[in-house]
Amino acid sequence: MAAHDDPMTSTLDSLPDILLLGPGPSATHPDVYRALARPTLGHLDPVFIGLMDEVRELIQSLAHTQNRLTLPISGTGSAGMEASFVNFIEPGDRVLVLQNGVFGTRMKDVAGRLGAVVDSVDAEWGTPIDPEAVRAKLATDSYDLVGVVHAETSTGVWNPVEAIGNLVRPTGALFLVDSVTGLGGIPVELDRWGADIFYSGTQKCLGCPPGLAPFSASDRAVAKLQRRKSKVPNWYLDLSMIVNYWDGAKRAYHHTAPINMIYGLYAALQIILREGEASVFARHRAAHEQLVRGLDRLGLELLVAPECRLPMLNAVKVPEGVDEAGVRVVLLREHGIEIGAGLGPLAGKIWRIGLMGHNARPEVVERCLAALGQCLGKA
Ligand SMILES: Cc1ncc(COP(=O)(O)O)c(C=O)c1O
Repeated sequence: MAAHDDPMTSTLDSLPDILLLGPGPSATHPDVYRALARPTLGHLDPVFIGLMDEVRELIQSLAHTQNRLTLPISGTGSAGMEASFVNFIEPGDRVLVLQNGVFGTRMKDVAGRLGAVVDSVDAEWGTPIDPEAVRAKLATDSYDLVGVVHAETSTGVWNPVEAIGNLVRPTGALFLVDSVTGLGGIPVELDRWGADIFYSGTQKCLGCPPGLAPFSASDRAVAKLQRRKSKVPNWYLDLSMIVNYWDGAKRAYHHTAPINMIYGLYAALQIILREGEASVFARHRAAHEQLVRGLDRLGLELLVAPECRLPMLNAVKVPEGVDEAGVRVVLLREHGIEIGAGLGPLAGKIWRIGLMGHNARPEVVERCLAALGQCLGKA
C-alpha cells in the first residue's frame, strides 16, 4: 500500500537523516526545529507583531546596520535578489554586476529582465573580483547600481566587498551586496561597507530551513524607491507596500507572513548572537582549517587561494581519474553525507563541501573526512 493510501503512515516518517555538507541547505539547529513547531499565530496578532520588531532588530544586529527598512522577504535567497532589483531598478537604469560565479551571473539575468542596461566586471571563476578592475570600470562609465556577491557559493571565493564599497560610494551608485552564504559565518558590516541593498538566505550559516531572505535597504535606496517613475513591476515583492505591514502603526495586511519560518529565523538569529559573533566566526574558521588539513592528508587540494577562501564553502579539486559523481553517490548512500557538485565551468572538476552554521563543528569535519577517505580508497 502506498503511503498516501494509509492515513496512519507517511513518507515523512521514513525520511533519511542526511548530514548536509553541500552548498546549502545546511543543518537546521535543533532549537530552530523547536521554534518552528510553536503554535502558529495570526499575522496581525499583537504578540506576533512584537516578534516581527524583534526579528528586525536581530537582523540589524547581525548585519551591523541601522537601516530602518530591514525585514525578512518571504521566499528564498533568490526572492531577496529579485526584490533588490525589482524595487530599485527602472528600465534604462545602468547596472554594473561584478561577476565571478553563478550568482553574479544570476544577478545579470534578473537585472536584464527588468530592462536595465547591464554591464559587468568579470573575474575567472575561483578567483576574486579585482578592486582595480572595478576602479577602472567606474572611472570610465557611470552606473545607477553596482552589485556583488560577498560569498560566491559556486566557487568558494570571498569577494573584497569593503574595498569595492569604498570605490562605489563616491560615484553615487547604489551598492548591492548578496550575502546569502556569508551571513552568520563571516562578518557582514553593511553600514561600514556603505552597502545600500543587502539580502541573505536562511538555509546556509543561519542554520534554518530555506524559506526567508533577510533583507535591508539604506535610506538612499528607499529614496530611490520613493522617486520611481513607474510602479514596482512585481506585486508580491513591492517593498513600498510590504513596509506598511512590517513597519509603523498601520500594520496593513499585504501577504500572509510565513509565521513559523519567522519563529525559526528569530531563534536562529538569537542562537548566533548569544554564542557571540566572534566565537561563531572563529568556529567556522577552525572547522575550515581542520578540513583543509585533513584534505591535505588525503592528497586533495582546494580550488581557491588561501587569502580569499570562504571558511564555510570549500571547493575541492577532483583528482585526475576519480569519478566525481560516483564519490558523491557513495557518500550519500553509504555514509548519509551530502556534498555538492561543481557548477558551470567547474562541473565535474570540483566538489563543494559546506561547513555552515551548526555543521561548523570538529566532529562533523571528522566524519566528513573519514567518509571521503573511505570513498577515495575505494575509487
Ligand atoms: C550567493 C547566493 N546567492 C543567491 C542564492 C539563491 O538563493 P536560493 O537558492 O535560496 O533562492 C544562493 C543559493 O545558493 C547563493 O548561494
